[in-house]
Amino acid sequence: MAENTRGSWGSKIGLILAMAGNAVGLGNFWRFPYQAASNGGGAFMLPYFAALIILGLPLMLSEWNLGRYGGKYGHGTLGPMVYLQAREGAKPKTALILGAIAGGLAFAVTLLVNSYYNHLIGWTLGFAVSSFTGAYMDQSQSTADFFVGYIQDPKMVFTFWIIALVGLSFAVMRGVEKGIEAWAKLMMPVLYVFGIVLAIRSLTIGSPVNPEWSSLKGLNFIWNPDFSTLTWRSALAAAGQIFFTLSIGMGIICNYASYLKPDDDVVVSSIATISLNEFAEIVLGGSIVIPIAYAFLGPDGIGAGVGLSFIALPNVFRTMAGGQFFGGLWFLLLFFAGFTSAIAMYNYLTALVEEDLGIPRKTAAWIIFAAYVVVGLPVGLEQIINKTADLAYFTEIDNWVGSYLLLVLGLIEIIVVAFLMGEKALTEINKGGIWQMPKWFYTVFMRGLTPAALVIVLVFSTLDYIK
Ligand code: PHE
Repeated sequence: MAENTRGSWGSKIGLILAMAGNAVGLGNFWRFPYQAASNGGGAFMLPYFAALIILGLPLMLSEWNLGRYGGKYGHGTLGPMVYLQAREGAKPKTALILGAIAGGLAFAVTLLVNSYYNHLIGWTLGFAVSSFTGAYMDQSQSTADFFVGYIQDPKMVFTFWIIALVGLSFAVMRGVEKGIEAWAKLMMPVLYVFGIVLAIRSLTIGSPVNPEWSSLKGLNFIWNPDFSTLTWRSALAAAGQIFFTLSIGMGIICNYASYLKPDDDVVVSSIATISLNEFAEIVLGGSIVIPIAYAFLGPDGIGAGVGLSFIALPNVFRTMAGGQFFGGLWFLLLFFAGFTSAIAMYNYLTALVEEDLGIPRKTAAWIIFAAYVVVGLPVGLEQIINKTADLAYFTEIDNWVGSYLLLVLGLIEIIVVAFLMGEKALTEINKGGIWQMPKWFYTVFMRGLTPAALVIVLVFSTLDYIK
């Protein structure tokens, strides 16, 4: 396909905001706090930072590079991109097999992430409405009970899920510049402003439950390094969180990068994407949910699973002046964050059907819509049919896909870029760069620490799992 038939970014700032929108998602505000809390807080942050440098940065650079390179040949998905770079150093058949594995796995992983991610987006919208209407303000019911009531109510769950899906399909059908970029330019600045307001608010409340549990103390929970509870499983969780939050592994960063021009910068843009994401995750995500959960649930209650954001936060809004409004703001923030990431995943799958299978874009988008409904139904129905609230199936997919499978994909990507593409990758990454990636970084990280760390974490956490 000729390159000029594909869309492209309208402006540099639009591109960076779209990439930030892609990376900054529910991973930052919903998943990070609950992963950090259920993996020991301070013990989680050590492997988290190690993974950010050893895995996050090299893979972000690799994905921008794979994407821009693939885009030049008219491809926007991981399979063909892996093939194109792998054939530089491997036999065509090997390159083809690698491309097929990467493409197939990325398709499956993205679809599975969306089986629950789109429900989360639906919940955030439902909770925003419940906040503005004051539905969860009634003190006679605990916020945990409200949450359980919500996820077991088919009307709420399916109405907002479908609204989210329809909104997403419209955004994706409008294309790159008018759809994705326009939404990101509107939503991302609002998200940062909301986030800063809420972080200030949550750091300045005491605990109405126990004077010992002030929200500021909650910060200690993640900022006190604690080696004693470090395990392979928490290392896997931290590595998985880095993949999840930076959107690496599934090829969706590659997909956005495929709409670059051949000599658009890759190095500084990668660093900008990471910085914007980590600001939202550590500074905002870490200062909103964790301190509040601590203030209301205490050190022992903070580990609660996937419902953490939805259960802890409404407590604050109920007890503060203007709580309905601030609560609505918080859940809208979650909605914006999730929506701009889900657009990226939806666009990726649509590009796959459109470009790799040759089906027109609109039809492709509807096919993905149908696929989302099929994979999402069991996730929504589990609680409704079984009258449970443990979200067992949801959590299981999140753990497998969100952590393990993304790492496997990362390993394939780094093998292709660092070993099969060889030194050419360094030249390719640095092409058009405002800054140049130094050769030592390529040698020490991309050809050494990154693949080694991925293999070690995958092997040891597997052994830990089957033990
Ligand atoms: N990075 C986004 C988030 O943090 C979305 C995403 C999730 C991307 C999973 C890839 C994999 O929510």
